[in-house]
Amino acid sequence: MRLETKYLGLTLPNPVVIASSPLTSSLKHVVEMENAGAGAVILKSIFEEQILDESQFLERFHDYPETIDYLRNYVGNDYIQGYLSLIKQAKASLAIPVIASINCMNESGWVDYARKIEEVGADALELNIFLLPTRPEQTSAEIEKHYLDTISSVTDVVGIPVSVKLPKKFTNVLNIASETYKRKAKGIVMFNRFIEPDIDVDNLKVFDSDRLSSNAELRSTIRSVAMCAPQVSGIDIAVSTGVHTGEDLVKVLLAGAKAAEICTVVYKHGAAVIEEMKMYLASWMNTHGFDAVDQFVGLLSNKSSEDYNEFYQRAQYMKTFQQ
Ligand SMILES: Cc1cc2nc3c(=O)[nH]c(=O)nc-3n(C[C@H](O)[C@H](O)[C@H](O)COP(=O)(O)O)c2cc1C
Repeated sequence: MRLETKYLGLTLPNPVVIASSPLTSSLKHVVEMENAGAGAVILKSIFEEQILDESQFLERFHDYPETIDYLRNYVGNDYIQGYLSLIKQAKASLAIPVIASINCMNESGWVDYARKIEEVGADALELNIFLLPTRPEQTSAEIEKHYLDTISSVTDVVGIPVSVKLPKKFTNVLNIASETYKRKAKGIVMFNRFIEPDIDVDNLKVFDSDRLSSNAELRSTIRSVAMCAPQVSGIDIAVSTGVHTGEDLVKVLLAGAKAAEICTVVYKHGAAVIEEMKMYLASWMNTHGFDAVDQFVGLLSNKSSEDYNEFYQRAQYMKTFQQ
């Protein structure tokens, strides 16, 4: 049974990818994930904001501008050097692809980090872009332009494959996918999952909701993947958020994804779930007469049969409740 999949032009031994998270933040962790059977790892994101926060904290204790500049460079270099050395070590130790991930505050950060990451040999780069809309005067068009400009600024300067981890909420994610592809990105991840605030009504407080996903969160992504895969056929899709079982993995592949990026399920059940998911995939392929993953990727996408249009393109309950 051939479980390999092509994602971003890379050959992954199987489509179970470990999502960017503390599970991929050290050499020890990524080696553990490879040993457990992962098809690739997305390293924990490097956040430019974290560098700025740390240096601003230290700046409070120093009054001289030259000391402040020194601190900024020192903290920044230390952080990025640590990340670059993780990439190098991971590349030297792992046979599976090592994909780096960055989240920056401004264009120079995206470009600078992307270049450095390519130099040390990462197989690909995932852009963890997120612009939280906080002002009513900011338009969707402005926000989308920011995403697309960021993608171009990175793909203009690096030759390694670039993927973009998208947030769930776009008015038309199909357009974003297509524009992303035009800007030479090789893949998109549907979708990132952010920390959401919740409200504690007993104690009248706001708090962070659960950091781990529920399996039900996968449902809405299936439509997006199934609509996007045939229409933006050049771009590779990986699914993130809510893939908890081997069955979920098969579903996203059938919808048109090339891989699934998992995090919650490894936190909840340990790295052994990777093998369980692969075993389910292999056994499902056996039952259905497939001997390679690419034989059924996208088989149940929107364009594969007119019959499915009814499901993927219908959102209202008009018929369901007709007597
Ligand atoms: C503790 C934690 C830290 C995370 N850190 C990152 C990160 O640095 N970069 C990123 O792109 N996603 C990050 N994520 C999001 C995961 O990569 C993943 O997209 C999300 O958890 C949804 O997948 P899941 O349903 O399998 O958990 C993090 C998630 C968790 C739970």
